[in-house]
Amino acid sequence: MYKVSLLTRDGATIAFDAEPSDTLLDAAERASIYLPSSCREGGCGACRVARASGEVELMSYSSAALSEDERMAGDILLCRARARGDLALRAPFDEAAVGSAPVPERRATLVALEPAGSGAVRLQLQYEDDPTFGSAAQFAAGQFVELTLPDGSAKRSYSLANAPNWDGTLELFIRLQPHGAFSNYLRDRAAVGDTLLVRGPQGQFTLDEASPAPRWFVVGGTGLAPALSMLRQIGEFADQRPCRLFFGVNKVDELFALDVIDELQAALPLVVTLCVWKPEQDWRGFVGTPVAALAQALSSATERPDIYVCGPPALIAATEETARSCGVPHDRIFSEKFTAA
Ligand code: FES
Repeated sequence: MYKVSLLTRDGATIAFDAEPSDTLLDAAERASIYLPSSCREGGCGACRVARASGEVELMSYSSAALSEDERMAGDILLCRARARGDLALRAPFDEAAVGSAPVPERRATLVALEPAGSGAVRLQLQYEDDPTFGSAAQFAAGQFVELTLPDGSAKRSYSLANAPNWDGTLELFIRLQPHGAFSNYLRDRAAVGDTLLVRGPQGQFTLDEASPAPRWFVVGGTGLAPALSMLRQIGEFADQRPCRLFFGVNKVDELFALDVIDELQAALPLVVTLCVWKPEQDWRGFVGTPVAALAQALSSATERPDIYVCGPPALIAATEETARSCGVPHDRIFSEKFTAA
């Protein structure tokens, strides 16, 4: 049996014992400590933490969940790591992201479904009253939920785009994949009134409230969703710290939620750069990727910001490389990978 101690981003220490045969995620759960995770099989990266000292054995995992650079920097996946000695770990999330009970499962009704630019939809769900959890939608801005189709045939995880609220409302933006099971449902069969199972909230991609640095968001496509959630939360807290949003799509007609972005810009010290990789004529925004826009902005910035990046793995990797080469430390870059499904 080995001793594991996990230091959270806000300075709390969480301790548990691990058998050599347990994954660290299972070992924590045996002690009723529910650490952020999702796929539990090395595919999503939701359980990534940094190893400060001690040895682990890492079982197989996807490089989309843990890149070679991240592994070299000492990061591990809790769902794929077994202790080989006493361990000290550092978590990229606050103590509030650690649960003392399994992830809640609740039922929600589909109340709105509409296009969100070309190729994506906006989904609004309403939680049913629940004897344990009440009617509120309680989560940390930036987290995701796992949805199960009404017939139980497929599950997918999507980030929430709204702020936590007492009304029980969930808003999501979902990219439609050509042959995805969930996308086929949304395209062909979904109807207002359908009931879906919601497992969540989950995830550690949340604001670092303790950091005084400006907050910059670098997002691609529906990776905008968690950034909207965090910016809406910042607006509710009337936080006047400077923010920037670099929102990238391939073509102009893929932009969405521009009305929400306008509202946020009116309420917050927020500078928005809309980036289109292959614009048609008349485009007056940035031409190129959000990473190129970020590089340009960092080259003239006087302060190093915290960077929140969400989108496909290639966007995350390029943002991390650009930010690090411009002097942003590894631990000031927070990321959430979206994989097509
Ligand atoms: S929970 Fe998905 S990689 Fe560990």
